[in-house]
Amino acid sequence: MRDEFERVFGAAPTGVWAAPGRVNLIGEHTDYNDGFVLPIALPHAVKVAVAPRTDGRLRLYSAQGDGRLTDVAVADLAPGAVAGWASYPAGVVWALGEAGHRVGGADLYFDSDVPTGAGLSSSAALECAVAVANRDLHGLPLSNAELAKLAQRAENEFVGVPCGVMDQMASACCTGGAALFLDTRDLSRRQVPFRLAEQGLELLVIDTRVKHDIGDGSYAAVRNGCERAAEVLGLPALRDLPAAELEPALTRLPAELVPLVRHVVTENDRVLRAVALLDQGDFAALGPILTAGHASLRDDFRVSCAESDLAVAEAVTAGALGARQTGGGFGGSVIALVPQELTEQVGKAVTAAFRVAGYSDPALFTATAAEGARRLG
Ligand code: GLA
Repeated sequence: MRDEFERVFGAAPTGVWAAPGRVNLIGEHTDYNDGFVLPIALPHAVKVAVAPRTDGRLRLYSAQGDGRLTDVAVADLAPGAVAGWASYPAGVVWALGEAGHRVGGADLYFDSDVPTGAGLSSSAALECAVAVANRDLHGLPLSNAELAKLAQRAENEFVGVPCGVMDQMASACCTGGAALFLDTRDLSRRQVPFRLAEQGLELLVIDTRVKHDIGDGSYAAVRNGCERAAEVLGLPALRDLPAAELEPALTRLPAELVPLVRHVVTENDRVLRAVALLDQGDFAALGPILTAGHASLRDDFRVSCAESDLAVAEAVTAGALGARQTGGGFGGSVIALVPQELTEQVGKAVTAAFRVAGYSDPALFTATAAEGARRLG
């Protein structure tokens, strides 16, 4: 990283930081409803080497980019001013400035092994890497959770994607060997031990290669439906509808909003049940909760796709204890909870089924719960 930085910018960087992607175990589309989520950070991360500049210019280079440098004056940063991948890091510098932390210019060299468009939060990783680097370089009095909120603001207002806060919180606040049980209403949270190998289990990630882009309007549409439903029910957010009151509440909603509300309320309940099981050390019992979560995403929330549905069904048939699509949906990745000795078999079964269906081969890897954003050197 340091050598590459020097090759591009002609001087040594001040430091190197990393921020990971994530998979969410359960609690999908609950974050913008003030609900609960349970993500883990991935070992895959965005790394950034940084050196501050004194002339107010922000220069961004990505090893995964087209070889061109983005060069913009910090003073000119405004929503819409930067396009493409560079809008995420530029947005964070803008959001820091909006919050009163004028960090000035910098040279940034990025290198990432978080697959993009795979529902694994490569964007939040980009944002959080820039946020922690600036916090550390300038000694800003900001906690990791505050950085996550600023990163979310960058994505909402600068990039223009109406995401919740889960991905940024996962990237900034996860700790190794644990899942992050997060209440997205007040950001209260607890690290729940999640060491699958000790239980003889593995988490297989199946990237369906169906590109998922939450900026394309379908995410905004379901989010909007949830907000309308909360309004009809006279609630601050769907989080405020307890599972026990779900059925009578559904009778007060227009038909098209019923399945959305059913998903959010049952999904919040699944998070709470999952956390209780993990606390008891009953990891295998998480499986059926994952599969029920997928059925809800597929049948009620309708954000899955044929490839995800096939991956889930095949994984379970081949011996997974449970499986579900993770992330915003409409493609991206599926996670499967698998007894270690069956991981290979499950991967092969899903790949074979994809070939029969005429889909591209999925990309497979096993995920362990890794560290959140941090300085590397
Ligand atoms: C995307 C968003 C998150 C969250 C998930 C769905 O990843 O960035 O805020 O809403 O979708 O759970």
